[in-house]
Amino acid sequence: MGFILQKATLLTYVLTVVAYAASVPASLEDRATSACTLTASGSDDAPAFLSAAADSSCPTVTIPSGTTLSIQSKLNMTGISNKHIDLQGTIKFNDDIDYWTDNAFTFSFQDQAAFWLLGGTNIVLDGGGTLDGSGQAWYDAFAKDDDTVRPILLTLYQATDVTVQNIKMINGPEWINFVNEGKNVVFRNITISAVSTSSHAAKNTDGWDIFRSDNVTIADSDINNGDDCVSFKPNATNILVSNLSCNGSHGISVGSLGQYSGEYDLVQNVLATNIRMSNAENGARIKAWAGKNVGSGLVKNITFEGFVESNVDSPVVIDQCYETSDSDCAKYPSNTYIQDIWFTNISGTSSGKEKAVVASLSCSPDGRCSNINVNGITVTPPSKYGDASFDCANVDLTGDDASLFGTCTTSD
Ligand SMILES: *[C@@H]1O[C@H](CO)[C@@H](O)[C@H](O)[C@H]1NC(C)=O
Ligand SMILES: *[C@@H]1O[C@H](CO)[C@@H](O)[C@H](O)[C@H]1NC(C)=O
Ligand SMILES: *[C@@H]1O[C@H](CO)[C@@H](O)[C@H](O)[C@H]1NC(C)=O
Ligand SMILES: *[C@@H]1O[C@H](CO)[C@@H](O)[C@H](O)[C@H]1NC(C)=O
Ligand SMILES: *[C@@H]1O[C@H](CO)[C@@H](O)[C@H](O)[C@H]1NC(C)=O
Ligand SMILES: *[C@@H]1O[C@H](CO)[C@@H](O)[C@H](O)[C@H]1NC(C)=O
Ligand SMILES: *[C@@H]1O[C@H](CO)[C@@H](O)[C@H](O)[C@H]1NC(C)=O
Ligand SMILES: *[C@@H]1O[C@H](CO)[C@@H](O)[C@H](O)[C@H]1NC(C)=O
Repeated sequence: MGFILQKATLLTYVLTVVAYAASVPASLEDRATSACTLTASGSDDAPAFLSAAADSSCPTVTIPSGTTLSIQSKLNMTGISNKHIDLQGTIKFNDDIDYWTDNAFTFSFQDQAAFWLLGGTNIVLDGGGTLDGSGQAWYDAFAKDDDTVRPILLTLYQATDVTVQNIKMINGPEWINFVNEGKNVVFRNITISAVSTSSHAAKNTDGWDIFRSDNVTIADSDINNGDDCVSFKPNATNILVSNLSCNGSHGISVGSLGQYSGEYDLVQNVLATNIRMSNAENGARIKAWAGKNVGSGLVKNITFEGFVESNVDSPVVIDQCYETSDSDCAKYPSNTYIQDIWFTNISGTSSGKEKAVVASLSCSPDGRCSNINVNGITVTPPSKYGDASFDCANVDLTGDDASLFGTCTTSD
């Protein structure tokens, strides 16, 4: 009996040694492959994700299908290069509000915070998987305390030559994508859903905010959220937005700009084309501050074309007296000039919230809006309000539809 056991033990030992010997010569490539393919550890997966991203022997970091990485600490993934993050599974940020309140990255711009900074050069994030921000706890916390600082889901920070495509972004606590100081960035085929399941709305869940960034494309995406679908913040230049379906949003918005005294905000060369905008507060919008002690800026060469709107409160908007009373706006006109704007081929229906009004172009006095072009605006209000009406103030309009607006030289 003892002998047999001993023999079995010996056999096991021999087999183990043989197996071990076979695994030792495994190539470096194999070792790298395993370090580059992440698995769920059962605790915080942020350290493993960060080290794979920083490891130059991992040109591709894979999160396999079926794997959910739990991110319980902030991800500073800046300054990386030549990296493909192949997100087939899920990256899920936990909802430890106390932790993130103390530790999220912060931005002075609009008091933002972030879970994850992704930056550097030549980066691809794709793979068919999901980023999950566990937003519900945040939506509920914000409803109780609106000082709760809710983190942005994905922040491209000082990122150049970056593509983010073929992924879903769900349950973002606040802004979904923030492009801060980026260049040559493409987002394609992104599905965004930020929807609350409680009575507390998913607020400020902008699809994209572009800030101090040049040459950004956002295309072929589906967005279901509760604030701007795409927003061009200060110093967004050379931006293409095309083929988006936005539902429940606040529209495609330039601004608000010129808010902060002493700052100069530029938004230039933007084309937003082929946009379906449904159940939204706004369709195509430009907003700039006026009043005492505000900033300055320039909005130039912006085209909104091919919008199909459905149930939108304010389908076409320029507001150059944003958050400013008429009397203050007359006294302190906006220092953010608006020039060379095209609203072209905008169809569909308004909600009736503004009764018959389907377009409102309202500028500060003194010619601070110029070369505003309106062509093919065919949006109709609900039939009970009769024919569409078009509002304007202090704006010189050109284009086929200028006459619809009547005389726009004084406030009405
Ligand atoms: C992120 O990491 C980089 C490189 O280690 C460091 O220079 C930078 O200060 C960090 N950023 C933040 C916001 O912590
Ligand atoms: C778009 O992304 C989804 C994953 O969200 C993927 O299943 C689909 O194949 C992608 N479409 C294209 C055309 O790549
Ligand atoms: C803009 O970015 C795209 C995509 O990264 C790139 O192909 C293109 O060359 C860039 N354009 C300029 C003018 O840098
Ligand atoms: C527009 O985007 C949708 C995804 O929302 C995609 O299925 C469709 O192929 C895109 N259309 C074009 C012309 O690229
Ligand atoms: C679109 O948004 C509306 C209003 O927020 C919402 O009621 C509806 O469920 C959304 N539709 C889809 C397909 O999610
Ligand atoms: C925007 O860019 C201009 C230079 O074109 C610069 O003077 C200004 O400070 C920048 N503003 C912001 C908010 O970054
Ligand atoms: C206006 O912006 C578009 C991009 O929307 C760009 O193609 C065009 O060159 C710009 N025009 C000028 C005069 O810069
Ligand atoms: C108007 O826009 C719609 C939706 O983007 C597009 O299908 C249509 O071809 C455009 N019409 C013209 C005349 O450009």
